[in-house]
Amino acid sequence: MEIIVTEDYESMSRSAAEIILRQLKDKPDSILGLATGSTPEGMYRCLIKAYEEGTADFSKVQTVNLDEYIGLKGTHPQSFRYYMDTKFFDWVNISKKSTYMPDGMELCIDKIADDYEKKLEEIGKRDIQILGIGGNGHIGFNEPADSFAEYVNVVELTEETIAANSRFFSDGNVPKRAVTMGIKDIMSAERIILIVSGSSKRGILKKALYGGITPKVPASILRLHPNLVVIADREAGEELEEVR
Ligand code: F6R
Repeated sequence: MEIIVTEDYESMSRSAAEIILRQLKDKPDSILGLATGSTPEGMYRCLIKAYEEGTADFSKVQTVNLDEYIGLKGTHPQSFRYYMDTKFFDWVNISKKSTYMPDGMELCIDKIADDYEKKLEEIGKRDIQILGIGGNGHIGFNEPADSFAEYVNVVELTEETIAANSRFFSDGNVPKRAVTMGIKDIMSAERIILIVSGSSKRGILKKALYGGITPKVPASILRLHPNLVVIADREAGEELEEVR
């Protein structure tokens, strides 16, 4: 495990983007597992900048995302598809056909999960999986539980999460379910980059990296991955020991 503590959010974002850019230099047809949320936004901006400056080429890249809400169209501003399109894909030379997100509008729940799992198999091993961590230690939508969910699973969001999300949904239609890669799916990537920012994540990050490996802190399992890179900004990582 490598642990890198950077000065601030911008340098955390740059460090993560640099790993991706090096990966694309070595293997232009890399497969990237991507995440949404506020943490990776700066990283996507760095990747877009590299593309604009002519130092990055995404034309052969394939991507697959970690999770998606169920019941939201890809054009809904809170869908993860919309996030990915507007914050990254629309700004670089990637073909939308090469960017997979589970279909949140499919009516048959079993089909959503089956199609997603099949796609993960078909697309093959992700060269890099980008992750953020939730305040409770979740990765993807894998919330603290009594056991690890191995494969793609449909999650009933907790009342707490629904209430927290309601501020983003002016029409009141807050999704109650989401679909996520399972823990085994996440762990099957060749390399995992966990990016973490802000003092609110400091405690849970310490727990995930130095506490017991337990499904009560889903991110703790990442320590068993042979090629994990944690990049935390100073606020999140000030109590960590750097390992390079
Ligand atoms: C996003 C995802 C989530 C986030 C996590 C942190 O696709 O799967 O697990 O990575 O909730 O979110 P932020 O970055 O908003 O703090």
